[in-house]
Amino acid sequence: MKIAIIGAGKVGSTAAFLMAFKNLGDIILVDLVEGLPQGHALDLMEASPLLGFEHSVLGCNDFRCMAGAEIAVITAGVPRKPGMSRLDLLNTNKRIVEEVCRHIKKSAAKNCIVIVVTNPLDVLCMVAKKALGFPRQRLIGMSGLLDSSRMSYFIGKELGIPAKHVYSTVLGSHGDNMVPLTRHTRVGGKPVEKLLSKRKLAEIIEHTQQAGAEIVAHLKTGSAFFAPAAAITEMVEAIVKNKKKTLPCSAYLEGEYGLHGVFVGVPCVLGKKGLEKITELKLSSEELALLRKSAEETRKAVKETGI
Ligand code: APR
Repeated sequence: MKIAIIGAGKVGSTAAFLMAFKNLGDIILVDLVEGLPQGHALDLMEASPLLGFEHSVLGCNDFRCMAGAEIAVITAGVPRKPGMSRLDLLNTNKRIVEEVCRHIKKSAAKNCIVIVVTNPLDVLCMVAKKALGFPRQRLIGMSGLLDSSRMSYFIGKELGIPAKHVYSTVLGSHGDNMVPLTRHTRVGGKPVEKLLSKRKLAEIIEHTQQAGAEIVAHLKTGSAFFAPAAAITEMVEAIVKNKKKTLPCSAYLEGEYGLHGVFVGVPCVLGKKGLEKITELKLSSEELALLRKSAEETRKAVKETGI
């Protein structure tokens, strides 16, 4: 498969590295900055003998090089600075995502599957939906997988076990109102609620909600990129290898969970057609209320910005 990554900054270039490491396909890096995608592409190709990477990486400033791409990952945009919320990025990143979508629509990759990564994620998925007019099957956002990975790490750390044994579920929007669901989180098959106290789980929920801001506070000049890139790569791998794997992603709901016409993080089955199915977990009334509140946050930002 041909995978285009638009935005060859920290998230985009790290995702390209992981995709090359996993040998997922030909990679096209597109960025506004002259030399940046070309430099990263060359650096990656020079690593190909060591990585066992059998495909090509092309770096360019012209969107026409996206021709034939089956997947397009949008990471173009500005990251947060300390003290900023993801929503503070909206005005700047909305213009960037609209521009990128115009290029995708005009390109010879207009039937591709688009994965939006730029923040504020769920609102920018709405922007992309309007700009591209793609069916929901071919337009998803990367968010819940990253938030779930962060929660799994915090749980594993607390229990003193490798986080790979933890299966966390975080739904809702990729912001302060995300919905970490401890009732749907398991450790080696056991419910986490049987292993950790309510107080400890409440701390882990709050830590998960603030995890992105915590990294921004450390880095000061940008936001997280290793974990976001790993989450993007997992989603791309599920599509490329037609894995039919259930991963939490931001998807356009058409009645699921009683929500219509809004992007919300929900469990999605990913395969070669993109979003192949949305899984409806049995949520309690309290969990459902939190999910709806999360969706309302996105609707409010959409309305206020006139999207
Ligand atoms: N077209 C192409 N590339 C663009 C455009 C555009 N219109 N506008 C910006 N870019 C590029 C920049 O030149 C830069 O190289 O997007 C890249 C963004 O990279 P970084 O500044 O390193 O930001 P990064 O940390 O990668 O985060 C990008 O992902 O996780 C989200 O919140 C994060 O919204 C942010 C996005």
